[in-house]
Amino acid sequence: MKTLTIAVIAGDGVGTEVIPQAKRVLEKVAHKHHLSFVFQDFDWGAEHFFRWGQMMPAGAIDLLQPCDAILLGAVGHPDIPDHTTLNGLLLPIRRAFDQYANVRPAYLYPGVKSPLVRPKGGDIDLVVVRENTEGEYAPVGGWVYRHQPEEVAIQTSVFTRRGCERIMRFAFEMARQRNRKRRVSSITKSNAQGYSMVLWDRTFQDVAADYPDIATESLLVDAAAMNFIRRPESFDVVVGSNLFSDILSDISAIIVGSMGLAASANLDPSRRFPSMFEPVHGSAPDIAGKGIVNPLATILSAGMMLDHLGITEAAREVEAAVAAVLAVGEVATPDLGGKSSTEEVGTAVLEKLA
Ligand SMILES: NC(=O)c1ccc[n+]([C@@H]2O[C@H](COP(=O)([O-])OP(=O)(O)OC[C@H]3O[C@@H](n4cnc5c(N)ncnc54)[C@H](O)[C@@H]3O)[C@@H](O)[C@H]2O)c1
Repeated sequence: MKTLTIAVIAGDGVGTEVIPQAKRVLEKVAHKHHLSFVFQDFDWGAEHFFRWGQMMPAGAIDLLQPCDAILLGAVGHPDIPDHTTLNGLLLPIRRAFDQYANVRPAYLYPGVKSPLVRPKGGDIDLVVVRENTEGEYAPVGGWVYRHQPEEVAIQTSVFTRRGCERIMRFAFEMARQRNRKRRVSSITKSNAQGYSMVLWDRTFQDVAADYPDIATESLLVDAAAMNFIRRPESFDVVVGSNLFSDILSDISAIIVGSMGLAASANLDPSRRFPSMFEPVHGSAPDIAGKGIVNPLATILSAGMMLDHLGITEAAREVEAAVAAVLAVGEVATPDLGGKSSTEEVGTAVLEKLA
């Protein structure tokens, strides 16, 4: 029997409600596929911050490193500034483990209503590939006259040719592997950002030359935001920088029905380090503790984890079980127009897996 060690950081708010449902699903598939998951739970996040002044302890990265993968709920608390929670937990993990590819698929499942009028199930099937370790999120900058009336903040973006090239190659390989529209859209803003985005564009042209079988387009980020609404069916793989892709993937999440369906993987494609799997959504303080958060994004993220770990049949089963629950539509949380609880949706997925 194969044993896999999964580091679990449920985090804050609804993170603590969705993670137990993903664990139930993983335990179910483990039983069927003669696997064993050892979950190592880490109670890091806001409560840890209130007690110790840090989102996670010194040495946290060393504790995560030996694990096969990391499953994360969400971080964020209304009483802690968001830059503290993000920079204290999520971003250091992504950087330390060189998880440079953030993969955020958006698929309109049959049975789910898009807020857009036209598309029907299956019409929207795109994946946002987000550069995840540099760009606008690089920890480079500083303050002058901090907390004084004349204070100045400088935040510097860092774009390296290596960073641009590897995420673009990843996107082209994904377009080949998906074998759907075989198209990569690059998101830029080189009309205004005459250094970083010009390097981005030039690198995209160079990488594209190695993939003559893949169609390409280059879109300004503002035009891309419009086209995600106007012609979402035309997209296949979309590659963008850290900030641009973060924003676009919230649009892609909502046009396929709900933030509660948006899964993601933070991948180190070289596999030197553990990769991390998490829903796109945050800690959703407005619904936390009510038992109504949609757990499907986290369950689909756990499915992406199984795929990454090479347990592909189980990964397909998890996605098919989620698709079956959505297609019937009887058990659904309020974000999808239903009245079911988080636990009832988790149970419905387990029943489909059976
Ligand atoms: N990866 C992360 O951990 C992450 C990502 C985004 C935001 N955050 C943090 O989360 C906190 C809240 O941020 P926010 O409100 O901007 O974003 P959010 O994603 O937490 O919530 C946005 C809206 O979507 C709804 N929503 C989100 N997930 C849902 C689900 N699974 N089911 C049903 N409804 C869902 C929420 O109720 C809310 O109305 C902040 O502290 C923010 O910094 C963390």
